[in-house]
Amino acid sequence: MDPLHFIDEGISKLKETGLYNTIRTISSSLSSNVVVNGKKVIDMCSNNYLGLANNPVLKEVAKKMIDEYGVGPAAVRSIAGTTDKHLELEKKLAAFKHVESSIHLQSGYCANLGVISSLVGEEALIFSDELNHASIIDGCRLSKAKIVRYKHTDIEDLENQLKLYKAATCRKLVITDGVFSMDGDIAPLDKITEVAKRYDAIVYVDDAHGEGVLGRNGAGIVDHFKLHNIVDVEVGTLSKAFGIVGGFAAGSGRLVDYLKQKVRPFLFSSAATLADVGAAIAAVDLLQSSSEPVKNLWDNARYFQNKMKESGFDIGKTQTPITPIMLGDVKLAREFSSKLFENGIFAQAIGYPTVPMGKARIRVMIHAIHTKDDLDYAYNAFCKIGKELKVI
Ligand SMILES: Cc1ncc(COP(=O)(O)O)c(C=O)c1O
Repeated sequence: MDPLHFIDEGISKLKETGLYNTIRTISSSLSSNVVVNGKKVIDMCSNNYLGLANNPVLKEVAKKMIDEYGVGPAAVRSIAGTTDKHLELEKKLAAFKHVESSIHLQSGYCANLGVISSLVGEEALIFSDELNHASIIDGCRLSKAKIVRYKHTDIEDLENQLKLYKAATCRKLVITDGVFSMDGDIAPLDKITEVAKRYDAIVYVDDAHGEGVLGRNGAGIVDHFKLHNIVDVEVGTLSKAFGIVGGFAAGSGRLVDYLKQKVRPFLFSSAATLADVGAAIAAVDLLQSSSEPVKNLWDNARYFQNKMKESGFDIGKTQTPITPIMLGDVKLAREFSSKLFENGIFAQAIGYPTVPMGKARIRVMIHAIHTKDDLDYAYNAFCKIGKELKVI
């Protein structure tokens, strides 16, 4: 018997249930418009919140870094992959986050896997929001700690769970997304921190969708709630609002010192390229020098979301520029997304397992570089298709 027969069955099942994901191909730089499968469309799909993915200053710096340092580090950070530029970036990220120190890693995913499993092990307890991102879930699983899921953003439930394990003397970690990537709601980090500290738990937030969006000049959720030096660990990514690729963890000097000895992607996977590191330094400088990009992002988000709500679309409980158009049925979401594409809008349908079964949606990502014309055009297309498909 073919030992890989399960693959054909798996693919057929995904296709039958409408869950098979057809991946589109981009053949241009990322701006408010983008060429996808050969067609020019408005990008309402990528995480390029501030339009930095194609920023001319960042591109120049990246090119210069290649000229100066070459294309690859050819070593892990702990052996021969740490350059002066990696350290400069770590200093800048710490200053941007208003904390003592940071450790740069290859991606946000690597950061969650490496940092969670460095902080807690088999004997520990992790209290995790039920809608946390897959990279948090995978990091928690990798740690082998016991995982206690609490109801989404529900402080009472979190406290009940902590109470239940009050007598346990093991290490405890409370972990949450800052901004939930599929719904756009904000974790009540002030309350989470207050409860967690009462039960002597470490507080860990993944700020992937908060950076460049919340707080002063996009410093993120900890800055938004003014919880500097109270939240123990902030994990971030450079692949969303920063428009590049990479991840990091920020916090106290002793935390980062420890992580640099323990985090496995730091010890066993090669360092990020200097082009990425240089561009990230320039992105932090750019964000710190002007609040304009973040302001434009929020103006655009409010403009589009108000119009969508007024027309009867259900945009869930978003509090940020992430705009889910809740449709429920995954086949409907895929049909809606295809029609949007025909009409020049790139906004992907999101279904299980990225969101729970029966909660399919189109996730619109609003960017600072969208023009009002882009947003009006998209809004009109949504209304036309929404009526055709009897969504509004
Ligand atoms: C909440 C959250 N954390 C972490 C990540 C992973 O970040 P990266 O793309 O840098 O690996 C993502 C990206 O999808 C995310 O949405």
